This record gives sequence, structure tokens and C-alpha cells, in this order.
Amino acid sequence: MRYGYFDDESREYVVTRPDTPLPWINYLGCEEYFGIISNTAGGYSFYRDARLRRLTRYRYNNAPLDSSGRYLYLRDDGPVDQESGPLFWSPSWQPTRIPLEEYECRHGMGYTLIRSKLAGVEASTLYFVPLEENLEIWELTLTNHRDETASLSVYAAVEFNLWDAMDDATNFQRNYSIGEVEVVDGIIYHKTEYRERRTHFAYLACSEPLTGFDTQREAFLGPYRGWDSPLAVETGEMSASIAHGWQPIGAQQIKVQLRAGEQKKVIFILGYHENPADEKFYPLDSQTINKRSVLPVIKKYIQPGEVENAFQSLRLYWDELLSKFQVTTPDTHTNRMVNIWNVYQVMITFNLSRSASYFESGIGRGMGFRDSNQDLLGFVHLVPERARERIIELAATQLPSGGAYHQYQPLTKRGNNDIGGNFNDDPLWLVLAVAAYLKETGDWGILDEAVPYDNQPRTEEPLYEHLQRSIQYTLDRLGPHDLPLIGRADWNDCLNLNCFSDSPGQSFQTTNNKEGMVAESVFIGGLFVLAAKEMLAIADHLGNAEQAEACLKVVQEMEAAIWSAGWDGEWFRRAYDDFGRVLGSRENDEGQIFIEPQGVCVMAGLGIEDGRALQALDSTAEHLATPHGIVLQQPAFSKYYLHLGEISSYPPGYKENAGVFCHTNPWIMIAETMIGRGDKAYDYYLRINPSAREEISDIHKCEPYVYAQMIAGKDAPDYGEAKNSWLTGAAAWNYVAITQWILGIRPTYEGLQIAPAIPSSWDSFEAVRMYRGVRYEIKVERHGSGSNVRLEVDGNAVSGDIIPLPKKGTKSMDVFIILE
Ligand code: GLC
Ligand code: GLC
Repeated sequence: MRYGYFDDESREYVVTRPDTPLPWINYLGCEEYFGIISNTAGGYSFYRDARLRRLTRYRYNNAPLDSSGRYLYLRDDGPVDQESGPLFWSPSWQPTRIPLEEYECRHGMGYTLIRSKLAGVEASTLYFVPLEENLEIWELTLTNHRDETASLSVYAAVEFNLWDAMDDATNFQRNYSIGEVEVVDGIIYHKTEYRERRTHFAYLACSEPLTGFDTQREAFLGPYRGWDSPLAVETGEMSASIAHGWQPIGAQQIKVQLRAGEQKKVIFILGYHENPADEKFYPLDSQTINKRSVLPVIKKYIQPGEVENAFQSLRLYWDELLSKFQVTTPDTHTNRMVNIWNVYQVMITFNLSRSASYFESGIGRGMGFRDSNQDLLGFVHLVPERARERIIELAATQLPSGGAYHQYQPLTKRGNNDIGGNFNDDPLWLVLAVAAYLKETGDWGILDEAVPYDNQPRTEEPLYEHLQRSIQYTLDRLGPHDLPLIGRADWNDCLNLNCFSDSPGQSFQTTNNKEGMVAESVFIGGLFVLAAKEMLAIADHLGNAEQAEACLKVVQEMEAAIWSAGWDGEWFRRAYDDFGRVLGSRENDEGQIFIEPQGVCVMAGLGIEDGRALQALDSTAEHLATPHGIVLQQPAFSKYYLHLGEISSYPPGYKENAGVFCHTNPWIMIAETMIGRGDKAYDYYLRINPSAREEISDIHKCEPYVYAQMIAGKDAPDYGEAKNSWLTGAAAWNYVAITQWILGIRPTYEGLQIAPAIPSSWDSFEAVRMYRGVRYEIKVERHGSGSNVRLEVDGNAVSGDIIPLPKKGTKSMDVFIILE
């Protein structure tokens, strides 16, 4: 069953009923000001950091679902029906949930448009954040379809968050007494803590003169009422309340008279603004916000013409970004994910890492070191300059040991001491991110960039040295089988072989109570080979023979260790636990085979020549593949194993305990292309492609336009149900798998390589790819059943499958490929 449809032409998903199985969200903002917005206008906004600079409140896990947001109400101020009372409703359905005659929500690239109709009044609200501004616009267009004049009140309402979202949700003894606002000329300013150390405030403004306002929540809602029936809206009377403490809100009322057929635009602006510390107040000796720099911004955006321009700029921005890579294949799901939604999701995960979604509270996790490095893999071609900045930012949190903080806070860019480090795979991802950046840009200078450790001044060393320390970090931590020690966990955060947690509530990852000198990870072994091979290629490129040789040596040693202790006969093993016992082996009762090492070891090239890669992938197909995707491991853990950690804490079929972890499936897709099985790779691709799952939206439940982290596996009662959509490594990895490996268009150190492993049913496909400033127009035709590439560039045959870098000044190249 579907709840909407894709409008690919407009690059929108159109939700056609408000009661989706879960709130289906979108993101506003792509620079510093962000918001999440659901198909019923639920959600919240923040400046840069979803925890520390939260503008508006959101109550996670509330009932009804998704019950705080950017709310508008319409009230019919005409004669009141004595029986049913005054008519008022939400044009976005929530929070009143009054049934609408028409409803449609269009989620697009950086904007959401919600249109509805009730009682002859059509309301269409466009929500977006203009580029380079720290504010969001809600542009409401009202149309009166009645035969007579409509007298309406329009209300906008937001509940302010007292900045630190954690404190806001917990520290009531303080925060019930600190709320402060100012209301001047119809603009509501939220200035809690501005009197002391903050230099920023939020505001809600409107293009029309107000008829009334409220800033104290209970005054607006009325005692013991909710957002679904505010007293002020019911009665039509606002009370001009000024919040001192309690719950400051911004609620505005305007009156609108619309003749029959008349249309009117009303603009609301919710924004964030900072003043220089010594110019906070005006007059200087007062406690009044200095509004001189914010007012021009507000005045600008309450004009429809400016809103229109800003919206056009946003569209152009996305046109330009998306035009960097476009494909035309025989398959709609592939086209729309590659051209629109997958790349959009890649951008969102790059911006927000794992901080704010419907499943990530904005409080819990900041930027993940591993996560952000992987997000870069899909992002580098979009805005290489920002990828560069991010790489430096990440490397600057690296520790002198070569290890890394597992997370850091986006606002301070400092490593998070609560979580700390010792997730032993973390530093290796930095190598992969930098390699991807080099292949994309050829900007070798980045390796000389002086970057500190742990953000400490005077510890700067070239980025290249950071990469070497990442490699060395693994080599310094080898276990009894010469495999890498796992530390607190590897990619699988829930495989906690050194954190024996036996009390409820204890953290699985940070209860580090074993020496950590025994438990080893085959996965990190494979990842190490992958990363060390990149270091080898980089050393080669730099002409550093000694380094290259050293890399080759450690690669060979690690491969030998994997073959001797990490190969189970038919697949790669997963790990050795703290007692030196194997995991991910026939010897185990549960957890006999895991997906991660099959993917990463084959990606690293292990066993491709001698058939063991094929065997590992066949075993994956046999034991792990399901119609809803490839599950993480089998058999699922049926009970809690103290020595395995969080993985066995999940009921069978969920999350790391045998769920379909969508992030790992692309590794298998890539591995399949590496052994030449394009059909298999593509089959796996479609199983979790959200668009291909659209028709089972009632089972899948999450948005059909973005990947979710997890789909419940076959051991779960809710088999096929997705969770944790949007902020997941699944975005970048699926994008890499389809674009670079199945379509086969991948940057290398020498130039753009085209080595498709497409399904045998495809005769051809076309692509346009911007690469190092050159537009590659690529046409691929299948003339035989194999994957051998015959390459022609601008009409000339070229040997191999890498297009040599063109002469400076070349604008575009015609690439023709015959697959035989
Ligand atoms: C989550 C984490 C990611 C981890 C994965 C597997 O998606 O964000 O870092 O690799 O879970 O545990
Ligand atoms: C939990 C989640 C896992 C995530 C981790 C991050 O363990 O199950 O997916 O990676 O938290 O802290």
C-alpha cells in the first residue's frame, strides 16, 4: 500500500494522506540553520547543533506521534454554528487533526509544501531556509474558493526551546524560571539567557500587522489544553501574555478578509540571530536586545518578491548540485534514487551526521568519527571544498596515538569525552575518506595540510602523518592471532567483546572492563587491508618507494593472518572473543556467519583470485539473504550473551542482532561486482532500494524516498519493517555501490574509470558525470553478456577502462563504452 507518489519531474515526493505510518520527514537548511519537518508540519529547528542551539521544542516519543512543530491554525471568524462551535483547523492536519477535504504534502530538495483545503479555503504553505540565512520562511498562500467573502484569523505558533535541548527536557527547577521574551512591533523575540552569557536570540515575525499575540504557553493554550485545541484559537481572543519563566512560545494572530476567489500571501519568519558580545543591548545600559542588525534581515524576507527570489536560488542550488551526476538507466528506482533522493540523503547525512532525525533526538549523538568519514565517500563529488574542510576537522580530533574520539560536537568540534575512543576501526575510516577525496579531486596538497591532534595547538603535523598514524594504530594493537584487537567495538557498535556489562542501564560501549588484549576483529583486519592498500597507492603516487614497500608488507601480513585465523572454510569469520573463542564460525551455535567480514574482506580483494571470495558470497546468499535485504548475521542470538555485549541485547531480528542493516548490504553489492556478478549485485540493490519498496509502505513504514538504517530481519515478528530512516551510512554506501560499482563510474588516482557490472537485462545506460571540472557524457551499450569494457573517448579507442585525465581547459568529453 502507498501513501503518496514520486513526482520525479519536480523532484518531490508527494504524500497524499496525512496519517502516514510514521511521520515522513524532510530537512530544511543546508548550511548552518537546520530543521526537520514532517508531512504534517511537525518537527523543530536548530542552529548548527541540535543539542546546544535548539530553537524550538520537540517532544520525542510522544502521543499522538509527532505532536510539536511549526503550527498554523485557520479560524473562520464568520457566524458560529451553535451546535459545533467555532470552526478552526490546522492546514497541515496536525495538531487539530480536523479532517481536511484535500491534503497533499510535497517534500522537495530543501523545502516542504503542504497544501490543503477545508470549508472553501485553500491553504498552501511553503517552508524553506534561504541560502546563507539563519532563518526559515513559512509562506502561506490562502485562496478563498467560496462564493462569498471569508473572514479568517490566521495563527502561527511555535514553542521555544531554552537552547540546550538536554537541559530543556530535564532541568525544570531552573528552566521554569528563566524564560524571557520581548515583543516589539509585532515581532516576538525569544531571549532566554541573553541577559547572561548568550549573544543569540530567536524570533518569530510576520508580514502582516498582528491582531494579537501570546508568548506564555498556558495563556495561549488555556489550562490543561493541548495544541490541538488552543483556547485563544477557539475564542479568537489572544491575551498579549508576556512570558516570565515557564514555557515561552511565539504565537501570533492576524485577521484576513478574502473576497470570493481572492488569494493572499502571508509570510512568517522563524529565525536565529547573533549580536557581537559588546553590542548585545540597546540602549547599552539596558537589558533590551539590540535589534539593529536583525531588523533589516526580517524586513527583507517579509516581502513576497524576496521570498520568491530566495526560493528560486535554493532551487538553482540543488539543480546545480544534482547535475554533477545524472543517469538514465532502464530502471526508474535506480534513476530516481541516484539522480534525486539518494544524493539528497547523502547531503543531509553529511550535514547532520547522526544528530537530528525522527529517531535521533539531537541530544544523543553528535558527529560520529567513523560515520562522518563514511558519509564523505558519497559526498566528495558534490561540494569538494566542504569535504576538504570536514576531513581536516575530523583529523584534528584524532588523538596522538592515531586513535580517535568516537564522536565530536558540531558546535565546538571537540571530541566527546563521555564516549571517548578505542573503537579500534575508527581511525582507518579517515584513510578511506581521504583516499576518496584524492581520487575525486586530485588535490594532493591536502596531504601537506598541517593538522593538530586532539585540537591541541602546536601539535600540528601534515595530514599524511595522521593517515600513517591511523595505520600504525592498528599495527600497535594486534592480538594473539595477529588480527587487530577490537577495543570497545568495531564498525558493529554492538559487538562489545571487552565490555562485559551485567547491570541494567550500564553502557555497553563505555563499560570497558577487560584488558582488551585478546578479543580480535576479522572485520578490522579486512578494513585494514583496504586502507593499507590505499596508503600503498598514495605512496606510489608520491613516488615514495620505501613507504609503498612498507605498506605492501603489512598488507601481506594482515592477509596472511586473515587466511590463517579468519577463514572458516566457507566464509570469513567475524571475531575472537575475550576468551580467545571464535565468533562467526560453524563452531558457534548462534552467530555462525556475519555479513560484515564477507563484504569488507572481498572489497579489500581477499580471495578474488582463488575462489574464496566467491565462496564467501555464496555463503552470504545462502545464509543471510532474504527478500527484504541481507541480514547482519545468522542464526540470530536467542538470548543475552554477557561476553558479546549489546548485539545480543536486541530481540532476534532487530538492529545488529540479525536485522537487515542497510549500511552493510552495499558492501556485498560491491563485492559481487568485484567478482563480476552484476545481476546479483543489482538484485541486492533493489531489495533495499526505498523506492522499490514504496508499494509495501504499510509494511516498510518509513519514508519510501530515503534509506533507513534497519529493516527488521526474518527472525522478527515485524519482518520487513524499517526504522531509523535518514541519518545512516546506508545513504553513502548505497550511493557508492550503485554509482561506482554497479554503474561502475568511479574516480581513481589516474582518472575516471568506467567498469560497469550492470544486470544482464540492461542493453544500455547513459550518464553525465562532472569530474575534476570536466563534463563526461557517458554512453554504455551492451553487446555481449560479459563485463569486458571497450572504451572510446571522443571517438578514439582507448585501452583499458580508465579515461586518461584530459588536457587543461577541456570542458567535456564523450565517452562510449561497449560491454562484451
Ligand atoms: C549505527 C552507527 C554506526 C555503526 C552502526 C553499526 O548506524 O551510527 O557507526 O557502524 O550502527 O553498529
Ligand atoms: C546503539 C545502536 C547502534 C548504534 C550505537 C551508537 O548501540 O544499536 O546502532 O550504532 O548505539 O552509540
